Amino acid sequence: MCGIVGYVGNKSAKEILLEGLLKLEYRGYDSAGFAVINGKNIECLKCKGRVKNLKEDKKIGSVIGNLGIAHTRWATHGEPSTRNSHPHLDNEGKIAVVHNGIIENYVELKNFLLERGYAFLSDTDTEVIPNLIDYYYKLNGNENFLKAVKQATDELVGSYALEIISTHNLGEIIITRKDSPLVIGKGVGENYICSDVPAVLSYTNVFYYLGEREFAVITKNDIKFYNNNLESIKKEEKIVDWENSAADKGNFEDYMLKEIFEQPRKVEDTFNIENLKSLDLPKEYLNDLNKIVIVACGTAKNAGTVAKNVFENLCRIETLVEVASEFRYRNPIIDNKTLAIFISQSGETADTIAALKLAKSKGAKTLAVTNVKGSSITREADYSVYTLAGPEIAVASTKAYTSQIALLTLLAIDFAEKLNRVDSKIIEELRAELPNIGSKINFILENKELYHNIAKDIIENRDVFFIGRGIDYAVAEEGALKLKEISYIHAESYSSGELKHGPIALIEKGVPVIGIITDEDLVEKSVSNMQEVISRGAKSIVVTNQEIESDNFDYIINIPKINKLLSPILSVIPLQLISYYAAKEKSLDVDKPRNLAKSVTVE
Ligand code: G6P
Repeated sequence: MCGIVGYVGNKSAKEILLEGLLKLEYRGYDSAGFAVINGKNIECLKCKGRVKNLKEDKKIGSVIGNLGIAHTRWATHGEPSTRNSHPHLDNEGKIAVVHNGIIENYVELKNFLLERGYAFLSDTDTEVIPNLIDYYYKLNGNENFLKAVKQATDELVGSYALEIISTHNLGEIIITRKDSPLVIGKGVGENYICSDVPAVLSYTNVFYYLGEREFAVITKNDIKFYNNNLESIKKEEKIVDWENSAADKGNFEDYMLKEIFEQPRKVEDTFNIENLKSLDLPKEYLNDLNKIVIVACGTAKNAGTVAKNVFENLCRIETLVEVASEFRYRNPIIDNKTLAIFISQSGETADTIAALKLAKSKGAKTLAVTNVKGSSITREADYSVYTLAGPEIAVASTKAYTSQIALLTLLAIDFAEKLNRVDSKIIEELRAELPNIGSKINFILENKELYHNIAKDIIENRDVFFIGRGIDYAVAEEGALKLKEISYIHAESYSSGELKHGPIALIEKGVPVIGIITDEDLVEKSVSNMQEVISRGAKSIVVTNQEIESDNFDYIINIPKINKLLSPILSVIPLQLISYYAAKEKSLDVDKPRNLAKSVTVE
């Protein structure tokens, strides 16, 4: 979703702003723009479409200055167009604002401003903000610009991350936020602002995370922080230990491919036992739990479904998996005997954060599983644990998914050892498998050609079905999501046994059905379900680590044997690559699929 970059220093702001915007392209957007202070004026350049359109704009040469703000917009209010893209200016062109989030009461504010003679040039909710600041600035007798910003934001209902520059406060960028992230990168004689760390990681690894409704006034040599009463506050520096190169493609054609191939190392890093040291949930607390609720969105939710199987197996605690956007509005039955786990790669997904706040208000202990240190979710949760996947840039999540499963499995093992409800041998066997998992993923990655051939064979199909039982069904869900999000082929996942209760009506000659079969207790049943679709003409593709008769299937993908609870980390890899090659064969933008955003910071 929308991205924000800001710069103040001695360098040409536009170069840094544009480079930052390019690094945020992965978030998903449909227009872009930036504004700089040029002497005593604000110069602004905006465009529909990609950041490269800005770079190629003939007017870019005249946009000069050492202080500026920039934005990539993912349209919510008003179509994607130059007119609706950010920055938005007040009527006099003296205040420029970029905004992530949604102002829910913008109609009311717009009417208030219209009655006072303000005019509006865009269809956005954002345009009320610079005009409202202008209104308050004048009400204050053209003094104290920061106070006017605070007065204006006090009126806003909804979510926002704001960067504001003005000719009233030359040399300063003011930022503030509510329910949408904003980070300050500290430099020497220069400072940076961004919605996402990778935007400026090549300049600094020292960051400050702005809290809810806090303000920062940033100049090239100074950063001043204020709380919502505009009282001065201190903030702690955070060092981000991601390598700068981690956010580059390296020798890979796409980020997604790079991230798929990073999985052996990232999963092993995440399995590193040190990871859970910070978490101290005592045996007595775990013993008293009546349930675990896992809440997340998208791929993170699918990782949660895998984890449900692991927690229930190892800990014998009922574990529910919920979609955050549903959970937050349905008065869920949870109390102080519920452990609520929130999974989010970005740590910024609006629905997941709101769901966490709800669970907390009902007395549940909350645990965040995220990839981004200092992200919003970690500031809300009672406990946070981190996947060590490094920055994930491709919109379609791959290494974050397998790392989430690794971390949640580690968590389940830790709980199981304290609870002692299952035979300790089961845990020992599981632990013994962990050091070899990276080489097993590597083995699967080598079979690229087979996945590519399968991809070529399914791209003309309208529908693809993914089926599995138990933990394999959880992986089927992720396989279907991956295929639809990047190749735009309609894909559905079903538990194999449910197929005959409706969906089988859609199976006819040539419809691909991908079956995941790794659970040795369910092999015969799963194979029978595949036979049922084959008899109806399906193109059959099987991912398995069991000895099954390969002649029956059009394609068989053999993966290494592993403990059933760890099998999703392996069985998902061919599915990721089939989706990847399907998208490539269709010449689609694998890293930035249409309509999607990496980080969904609005509801
Ligand atoms: C978006 C992304 C998905 C991601 C989901 C949840 O929809 O496109 O890849 O799984 O958000 O994101 P989170 O950062 O909370 O894991």
